[in-house]
Amino acid sequence: MSEYKNKFLNTDGRIVLEGYMGSGKSSVGRKLSFLLKCEFNDTDNVIENKEGRKISEIFEENGEAYFRNLETELLKKYGDSESKNLILSLGGGTPVREENRPIIKKIGTVVYLRATPETVYERVKRSKTRPLLQCEDPFGRIKEMIAERDGAYTECADIIVDVDNKSISEIADEIIKRMGDK
Ligand code: S3P
Repeated sequence: MSEYKNKFLNTDGRIVLEGYMGSGKSSVGRKLSFLLKCEFNDTDNVIENKEGRKISEIFEENGEAYFRNLETELLKKYGDSESKNLILSLGGGTPVREENRPIIKKIGTVVYLRATPETVYERVKRSKTRPLLQCEDPFGRIKEMIAERDGAYTECADIIVDVDNKSISEIADEIIKRMGDK
């Protein structure tokens, strides 16, 4: 553990987790923050707390563009902040907006949690909290969106971790190991 922590502290001390919905960003983020003893923030939660309502309500009441502007505004705050020892989990769509990508990279070491559509579908099929997947053919939508977004995720990423068939602990360990190897 101390070996892990030392390696981590030799870096800029901030890890950003990106990837499609259901790729495990929040769970892996929480695990990493426990292992590395640093703070964990999830941009969706920060936005929900600030707005005093759920993401689904924001989409419903103000539309997606309004939510995307809140995301960019929040990212800029993290980009300007000097705070160290932070694990930041992004919303699945954050890297899609081109203007967000250099800010994401500026925040810290970016880890792309890459999942296949099959894995994502299994994890999110009963979820009602993701407005973009409340449609007739969620699997088709997931496939299409992952194909569209993969380029943006890859462009931002310093490290890509394939998450299929891996536990949260295995993924967190792999990230720490690969950060140490960098
Ligand atoms: C979105 C992903 C969600 C949330 C919003 C939009 C997306 O976050 O930000 O519903 O565009 O992929 P999670 O990836 O944490 O589910």
